Formats: sequence, C-alpha cells, structure tokens
Amino acid sequence: MAVAEVKLGLIGLGTVGTGVVQLLQHNHAAITRKLGCALRLVHIASRSIHTKPHADLGRARLSTDPWAVVHDPEVAVVIELIGGTDPAAALILEAIKRGKDVVTANKALLALQGGEIFAAAEAHGINLGFEASVAGGIPIIRTLREGLAADRNRALFGIVNGTCNYILTKMSEEGEEFDAVLRRAQEQGLAEADPSFDIDGIDAAHKLTLLAMLAFGVRVPFAGVYTEGIRHLSQTDILFAREFGYTIKLLAIAKDEDGAIDVRVHPTMIPRRTLLADVGGAYNAIFVQGEALGSSLYFGRGAGSLPTATAVLADVIEVARNRGVAGGLRVPPLGYRWHDLRTAPLRSIDDLESEYYLRFMAVDRPGVLATIAGILGEHSISIASVIQRGRSEADETVPLVMRTHTARERNLKDALRLVDQLPVVQGKSVFIRIEENL
Ligand SMILES: NC(=O)c1ccc[n+]([C@@H]2O[C@H](COP(=O)([O-])OP(=O)(O)OC[C@H]3O[C@@H](n4cnc5c(N)ncnc54)[C@H](OP(=O)(O)O)[C@@H]3O)[C@@H](O)[C@H]2O)c1
Repeated sequence: MAVAEVKLGLIGLGTVGTGVVQLLQHNHAAITRKLGCALRLVHIASRSIHTKPHADLGRARLSTDPWAVVHDPEVAVVIELIGGTDPAAALILEAIKRGKDVVTANKALLALQGGEIFAAAEAHGINLGFEASVAGGIPIIRTLREGLAADRNRALFGIVNGTCNYILTKMSEEGEEFDAVLRRAQEQGLAEADPSFDIDGIDAAHKLTLLAMLAFGVRVPFAGVYTEGIRHLSQTDILFAREFGYTIKLLAIAKDEDGAIDVRVHPTMIPRRTLLADVGGAYNAIFVQGEALGSSLYFGRGAGSLPTATAVLADVIEVARNRGVAGGLRVPPLGYRWHDLRTAPLRSIDDLESEYYLRFMAVDRPGVLATIAGILGEHSISIASVIQRGRSEADETVPLVMRTHTARERNLKDALRLVDQLPVVQGKSVFIRIEENL
C-alpha cells in the first residue's frame, strides 16, 4: 500500500536549507515511521540553485524563483529559509492566503512584522512553525508555548546570540581585545563579514521580541526593546568583573513586573557561580523563572546547519500531524490567538532599578574619589565597593572601579554626565548592569 505523503516546498538553499535537505534524507525512514506518512520535498527554489554546487536534491523541481514554490499547487507546506523581510513577508503571506502551512526560521521578519503574519495565519487556519527562529536547535518556543503553558512566567534571561557569546568567552579566556577576537571569529566563519546585527544586539533583540510574547502573552513591538551591543567592552572591564566575582554576558532579558514588561538586551555582569556564566563559546541558553515551576534552563546549539534543521523539521512534522486534525490548527503559533495577546506598557530603560559596575579613568590624587562619590551620593547612588588600581605618574589616569547598590538608571546617567565633566576624569565613564537573580 502506498504511504500517504505531505508535500513540501523549500525556499532558500543556504546554511539551514541545506541542513533541512540532508536531515530529511538521512532520517527519512524514522520520520515516516513517527508520522505515519512521508515528507517529500517536491519543489526547491534558491537564487543560485543552478550555479552553486549542492548535494543530491532527489527528484524535487528546482527553480531560482521563490514564487514558483508558493504558486506550486502540489506544495502543501512552504519552508521559508531565505531570511530578511523582502520578499520573505510577501511570500509567506501569499502562501497563507493559498491555504499552505508555513515553517520559517526568520526571526527578523517575525519580530518586525509578526503581527500581520500571525493574524493572517490565524484567520486562514494555517499552521505557522517558527521554532528555528530563536536559539536554533533548542526547542524553547515549544517549551514556552506548551511545556510551560500552565505556569505564570515571571522572567526570562537568554544567551541567544552565539557570535557575541563566542567573542565574550574568548575575550575572557584568552585576554584578547574585542577587535582581535572578532577578526578571528570572522576568519572561522563564526561571525559575518558585516557583524553589526549580531554585535550590536539587534539579532538578540529580534529573538527577545518573540520570547517575551510567548513567555507573557503580551504584544511586544520590536521598537520597544532596549538594545545595546558589545562593541564597547574592553579587557579592563572583563578583568575587573572577574575580580568582583562576575562574568560579562550579552543577555536578552524579559521580566513581567506586575503587568509592565521590561525587555532589554545589553551586556550584563552575572555571578560566576551561576549556570548561565558557564555557557561558553557559540552555545545558547535560556533561563526561565516561573511562579510554580521555579527556575528551568534550556541549553544547546543556537545555530548551524544541522542543529537549526532539527528545529525546522520538527515544525514540519508538527504541521504535518496537524493537517490530519479537524480544523487544522492545534495550537496557535504564540500559544494565544493574536487578538487575545495583552497590550502591556513597556518599561523605559531609564526606570530600571539595578546594581551597577562603574569604571572611571581618574587622576590618582587625594580627593578625587570623594568628589565622584559625592556626585553619586547627590543622585541617591550608594557605593557597595571600590577598587583603585596602581599609582600613576604625575597627572596620568588610573582605573577607579565601583560597584553600586541598587540605583535608578535615570539617576545614574545624570550623575555620570556630571562626573564626565570633571577635569580629573578622562573620557566617558563605563557602566554595566549587574543581574544577581539567576
Ligand atoms: N544559519 C543559522 O545557523 C541560522 C540559525 C537560526 C535561524 N537562521 C535563520 O534561517 C534563515 C536562513 O539562514 P541561512 O543561514 O541559511 O541563510 P543563507 O545561508 O544566507 O541562505 C539563504 C539562501 O536563500 C537564498 N536566497 C536569498 N534571497 C533569495 C531570493 N529572493 N530568492 C531566492 N533565493 C534567495 C540564498 O541564495 P544565494 O545562495 O544566491 O545567496 C541562499 O541560498 C534566516 O532567516 C536566518 O535568520 C539561521
């Protein structure tokens, strides 16, 4: 008896697309057994499909035109793996309109235009899988949407950009400055030629937009996510952080604070004894705090051809299962229907209350510490500890490093503006937020 088939169309045969083809071929028998029907790739479109070398693509029709896949009446599930917003958004919306289920890894698109896409999928009863869009192979989306569905999530802390985590790990382990480590990461293919999306925190902010919506059932506009990258971090701060018992990570943080949502991406000092501090290299991890469950941690490979393909194909398997279910749609993509998501106020970064690490380059002269401490005190910032290093010659500056008690960010910025104008202080002072509750 012939095995029933679900017919797939793939758009984009790059890093992830190639992994999907390989994994589908390699695990075909096991997937068919699990699903009770076969997944067959019938159409593949990618810009350079006829010119770039690729592995065996079976009997799939090949095209350079992504619309050929969307318009193909045989294709039941469209897998979008070209990235970017244009033409990805139009392709996905058209596929939905034509009644095709969609699987995508495109966090940028969903963070920027998710509202339109989630609402369209819901209106047409279409399954939309996007597990691969956050933390590659780690099934964090399914975990938040289904595994943790009964709990009230309070906070989430993610190391969700492998490039940044690799750079910070190497800076910390090998004592090299940011530029040198970035160059090495680029040579090894761990950072893009233009790395700004990663190192400026934008990629992590895209992912955080989706994680926060899933964790708290709220609408989060990408523009409301405070975003700061890692370019400005120096070896000096990494060493002082260690001396205070901390390590620096680029964290994507989301908190539900009595209905107001705090969403931010920035370098964060976290205690060295925590599990997240041990997440090194290009690995990703997401630490979730729920009211009933308490803490849970999800760790694994956040990128790469085959790890990401596992998430894409898991979505395809789920979509294929749902196609046999009456009504088609089993679980809405975000766990809530789009129109049932709450609209919540987003907390401004200036209202953040946090402990801070501060570094000033100050002339080593009596009274300088007292002057700086005085300005901080006038802004309700109290100092928990101070390190002053070395004695300088004449009027040279030395690092003066402090850890504060909890302070309001607006006050801190006001105080630092005044400190930076002191003639005994050189350059702009550095501050890094500290997160203890991990
Ligand atoms: N790489 C990862 O580890 C990873 C992890 C998680 C999520 N993702 C997401 O997965 C998606 C794909 O990433 P990737 O790393 O596989 O990208 P990639 O290696 O650059 O592959 C994209 C492929 O799509 C093709 N393409 C681009 N625009 C096209 C168009 N308009 N028409 C037809 N083909 C087009 C490209 O053609 P050419 O060959 O001509 O360039 C390329 O083969 C992105 O949304 C990314 O954010 C990636």
